[in-house]
Amino acid sequence: MQDLITLEGKTILTGDRPTGALHLGHLAGTLQARVALQEKNDVTILVADMQALTDNAGRAADVAANVREVVLDYIAAGIDPDRVTIVRQSDLPSLNELTMLYMNLVTVPRLMRIPTIREEIAQRGFGDGTPAGFLCYPVSQAADITAFGADIVPAGADQAPLVEITGEIVGKVNRMAGRDVLTFPTLMQSNAPRLPGIDGAGKMSKSAGNAIALRDSPEKIHAAVMRMFTDPDHLKVSDPGKVEGNVVFAMLDAFDPDPTAVDGLKAHYRAGGLGDMGLKRRLDEIIQELLAPMRARRSAAASDEELVDHILEQGRKRAHVITMEALSDVRRAFGLEGRPGRSAALSRMQQISQERHSEGRLHEGLVDAVSSSRARFSG
Ligand code: TRP
Repeated sequence: MQDLITLEGKTILTGDRPTGALHLGHLAGTLQARVALQEKNDVTILVADMQALTDNAGRAADVAANVREVVLDYIAAGIDPDRVTIVRQSDLPSLNELTMLYMNLVTVPRLMRIPTIREEIAQRGFGDGTPAGFLCYPVSQAADITAFGADIVPAGADQAPLVEITGEIVGKVNRMAGRDVLTFPTLMQSNAPRLPGIDGAGKMSKSAGNAIALRDSPEKIHAAVMRMFTDPDHLKVSDPGKVEGNVVFAMLDAFDPDPTAVDGLKAHYRAGGLGDMGLKRRLDEIIQELLAPMRARRSAAASDEELVDHILEQGRKRAHVITMEALSDVRRAFGLEGRPGRSAALSRMQQISQERHSEGRLHEGLVDAVSSSRARFSG
């Protein structure tokens, strides 16, 4: 990660699709960094429910319900909703309008070439049935990033091509506008290695069923640690063991507060004489200690029925103002009025109706305005 000091005062945007519980992989990969960044920066977290629909159209109710759960997970992880703007993507119509405009600046082959998109299409088995919304989600993400004027987007390496295409769109809009209306974003790539799942078969992910969720019970965490993949050839305690690919060590690297002790354990494990059981007990204790206060914060927040709605409403209000400003600049770059319904004739109509309204003659005012604008169009 870049030095936090040099980031001071930057505008930072991150986001998550609300498709399931946040887990230890999210904690190590981004949540801890966000908690650190919130101290000195303007941080916005977008709960990307519209983006989630691009490959979950059949699970719309799940996506909607998960918004609340993800916000509770943020609070559990230590995100301070008084400092950070937490906002639901579908609450901001400006993002959709920006997406629509930007789609004219990006070609279909360019979208098809994005490695993340290609991989995801293959993974999901879309084949020729790729939803148009899915193909265009990078455009929608460019809308997210530019609408907030983000300088910095902290995310995984898989998001790099999306930040790159955002830069291309920024360049085009700024050229059209004849001035720098949009900000070029920079990806801040986390240096935390990808946390493996407890089965050691791939990265930790909800859909692979190999995750420890932040909200899991102590019993569930314990059971997951005990099942964790270690070294299948390490049969007897006295056997030398392998550290690479061993999930317990990957977890200790990520979460053990004493890295020197972990180095010692690795050496001992490699030499032989250190059993899996003792290591797992150490890890269980560390994860329990890490997640217990999160569970407590989460349940305190969840007991307040209105809290999440309130946080999202605060976020919406703040974000609405910022994103509408970006939208009017982009609309103008495309030769549109800065705000919809603001053609010269219409604004004059609204102005007259307001004047008449204050004189108590609303109806006549409208009639006058309409006939005068008709006259202008036909004349
Ligand atoms: N693509 C991100 C993910 O899948 C979510 C996201 C949506 C996002 N909009 C964003 C991330 C804007 C950073 C900035 O996790």
